[in-house]
Amino acid sequence: MSKIKHVAIIMDGNGRWAQERGRPRIWGHVRGASIVSDIVEVADKKLNIEALTLYAFSTENWIRPFDEIRSLFFLLKKYISKEGKRIIQNNIRFKVIGSISKLPADTVELITNLENKTKDATGLKLNFAFDYGGRKEIVDAVNRFFIVNPQRIITEEDISQNLFLQDTGDVDLLIRTGGDYRISNFLLWQSAYAELFFTQTRWPEFSDSEFIQIYNQVSERERRFGNVKGGGELISSIKDARKGRDEIFGNI
Ligand code: FPP
Repeated sequence: MSKIKHVAIIMDGNGRWAQERGRPRIWGHVRGASIVSDIVEVADKKLNIEALTLYAFSTENWIRPFDEIRSLFFLLKKYISKEGKRIIQNNIRFKVIGSISKLPADTVELITNLENKTKDATGLKLNFAFDYGGRKEIVDAVNRFFIVNPQRIITEEDISQNLFLQDTGDVDLLIRTGGDYRISNFLLWQSAYAELFFTQTRWPEFSDSEFIQIYNQVSERERRFGNVKGGGELISSIKDARKGRDEIFGNI
């Protein structure tokens, strides 16, 4: 059993939740946004995890109706305006991964201010993925590497070092709400060995207790990182697995 340090969540099912209640999809996003602070609090205060990454807007979401996109922009701004103070007080480090370049200037300012004010915070690492795509992140990382090292062969370590989050580590638990069984281009590299959990619950109805229950249930899973059954406690990450290989077999 290895500790879950980094949880990533695909907050899906807002639109269907609203439509099932005869309301416009945007209503679902409003309700979905309203539970984010509770989930952050559970991660921080009850589960004591190190990092929480939430998928707020993907590189593919630009094809949605303009009004829906605008409402998601607005909800992000509202969340930061409302929760910024609490994030600072709770020693949470806030970051947006992906791109904020297409957001309105006042939202960009709010985000960069909060990122700067919390950059040395030592508590929960809270990341919002906005205009984020896992494939794009990897391609950008490779390109960044080759600009600096045009002559060298690229390694896994080189890619990891050029991704958005340097000190956050791989995803241990990836949760998707809403009833679909996909990872939708989210943290593809970081989730290589993540435990996956899919729940039927639409995001606006995802509760503190379900989050804790999933965390506890997944904590009981044996994560083997390529090892055999029963060897799990010896290896708590894929890095450990590689170290073991090199110690025993050298560089063959
Ligand atoms: C997927 O639901 C959800 C999103 C595309 C956005 C997630 C955003 C929020 C929870 C609100 C934003 C909150 C903050 C604080 C930034 P969907 O619309 O794809 O649902 P569906 O699959 O039922 O259509």
